[in-house]
Amino acid sequence: MRKIAIANRKGGVGKTTTAVNVAAGLALAENTVLLIDTDTQGHCSRLLGVNPEKGLAELMEGTVTPTEAVITAREGLFLLAGSKRLELTIKDISQRQYRIEHVLADTLQAYEDKYDYVIIDTAPGFSQLSINVFFYVQEVLVPVSMEILALDGFKDFSNEIEVINQYTGVEIRYIVPTFYDRRVSKSDEIIEQLQGHFGELVTQPIRYSTRLSEAPAFGKTIFEFSGKEKVSEDYTQLSKVVL
Ligand SMILES: Nc1ncnc2c1ncn2[C@@H]1O[C@H](COP(=O)(O)OP(=O)(O)OP(=O)(O)O)[C@@H](O)[C@H]1O
Ligand SMILES: [Mg+2]
Repeated sequence: MRKIAIANRKGGVGKTTTAVNVAAGLALAENTVLLIDTDTQGHCSRLLGVNPEKGLAELMEGTVTPTEAVITAREGLFLLAGSKRLELTIKDISQRQYRIEHVLADTLQAYEDKYDYVIIDTAPGFSQLSINVFFYVQEVLVPVSMEILALDGFKDFSNEIEVINQYTGVEIRYIVPTFYDRRVSKSDEIIEQLQGHFGELVTQPIRYSTRLSEAPAFGKTIFEFSGKEKVSEDYTQLSKVVL
């Protein structure tokens, strides 16, 4: 079972969009995928057009069983939803005295080897819960939006992963340029800079597309909403790279 976090400290870089569409892409390629939303915004549910009553917070509180906490969002795609209630979860983790970094991993042990992939969407910033995520996954996929400032933030983030790597072996495996626009020359400059620093880890970019920002209003993945659009190919391609 591969466990991959979609993460970047910076907000609005396409983490949730990428988590949902890569999870859907892997499921379309006939894998079983558990998508876990660790963000209090609970956007994964919105993007998939589902409205679960229970999710990760309730699982961590112990008020639902691991089976009850998960819903079927699509064929092969299962969701452990996020919600505002995770704020309490984060508080609770912070007050523990033992295994403080392992609370999430201990809870998710119940799903071990039940799915081909676990994809975790993370919140912007760096909370005790995001640290817990890096103690659970083996791989990190980092969406980086094509702005100069996004690059600065990314270097800090990659240093933090380096530190956790010494304890767990977690690694940045994919760096995904997002909001890519060929007509804007800085897009290519930023990709070159990323390749200079991180070489092969940098994948093909995800294009800028208004279709991606429209799809959530319909609760559809990009494949369902606009399967013929170029950006849909970008996500199919990215799912293949992850495979
Ligand atoms: N390639 C793209 N082209 C155009 N719009 C995009 C693209 N990717 C994402 N968006 C839109 O940009 C906004 C931010 O994307 P998203 O929510 O995926 O980012 P995020 O990193 O998860 O944000 P947060 O840090 O708040 O969780 C959303 O409205 C989304 O629909
Ligand atoms: Mg998000």
